[in-house]
Amino acid sequence: MKDQLVTLHRNALDELQGINDLESLDQFRVKYLGKKGELTLLLRGMGSLSPEERPVIGQMANEVRSNIEALLEQKKRELEKIALENRLKEETIDVTVSRKKFERGRLHPLNIVLNEIKDIFHGMGFDIVDGPEVELDYYNFEALNIPKNHPARDTQDTFYINENILLRTHTSPVQIRTMENRKPPIRILTPGRVYRSDDVDATHSPIFHQIEGLVVDKNITMGDLRGVLDIFAKKMFGEETKTQFRPHHFPFTEPSAEVDVSCAICKGKGCRVCSYTGWIEILGAGMVHPKVLRYGGIDPEIYSGFAFGMGLDRITNLKFGIDDIRLLFENDIRFLQQF
Ligand code: DAH
Repeated sequence: MKDQLVTLHRNALDELQGINDLESLDQFRVKYLGKKGELTLLLRGMGSLSPEERPVIGQMANEVRSNIEALLEQKKRELEKIALENRLKEETIDVTVSRKKFERGRLHPLNIVLNEIKDIFHGMGFDIVDGPEVELDYYNFEALNIPKNHPARDTQDTFYINENILLRTHTSPVQIRTMENRKPPIRILTPGRVYRSDDVDATHSPIFHQIEGLVVDKNITMGDLRGVLDIFAKKMFGEETKTQFRPHHFPFTEPSAEVDVSCAICKGKGCRVCSYTGWIEILGAGMVHPKVLRYGGIDPEIYSGFAFGMGLDRITNLKFGIDDIRLLFENDIRFLQQF
């Protein structure tokens, strides 16, 4: 038995030396030290030894086992180290390799101009608020002093979901929604999409964008409206820009006006862009009609207000010299990349 142990020990050490990978090492461990391994099997024969021999062989067997275990552990560490080094070598990243080219996205021209307009009004203390595009007839018309059968509904034909629900034709309904929810002083700007059943051409689209403004407080006058719009026009189109109010009619304002800015291209001398008038119409505005204030739950005896609504698409086209509204909606990348 002693000889068998010595042979087993020698064989094991020889074999261990030849092992070069972790898998073989594990097989080696099973072969010698496992439950059915050679050493275990050998020790099963201990029962037939004499009582004197047994402790001697036992001690020897333990020494053989711990020696093999220690060498195995050492080998394992060596092999693991080599494996790690190999992996590190294989997985090096070549940081000098040029990466795939990324195209950087950019804002749509409408958003570029919208951000600019928001900034200007933000600077004058206006909050930016949102309203629904699918709107009730009540907010879109009724509460804006446009009752059923009013001729103003003709110019704002839209898409009806049913008799009472429609796609909003303007951003003005947000005026009412805001007044219902806030107490004066109110100073809001509300941009968004609006819809009308228009045929598509260079200046018409069934979907376009408006930006509505509303101010309600004590002692608000037409002078405040002029001042605010004058500052806006100068910031937007240049310090030398002039504004002009022309009397007009809107059911939800009294008095009402259409507002022109002096043509930034010809500086008012007259050119193709301004149809040789020197002026370009950019928005409708006026003093909020007392009935509209009342619809919004605000007492017109105490408060007054002004409102305005401008077309974002038109202002964007003016700003960038775009001559066809369709370009804003087609999303042709060659067009969009220019901004
Ligand atoms: N809602 C009007 C339209 O779509 C534009 C407008 C005019 C808005 C006068 C206003 C306003 O707030 O005071 O034609």
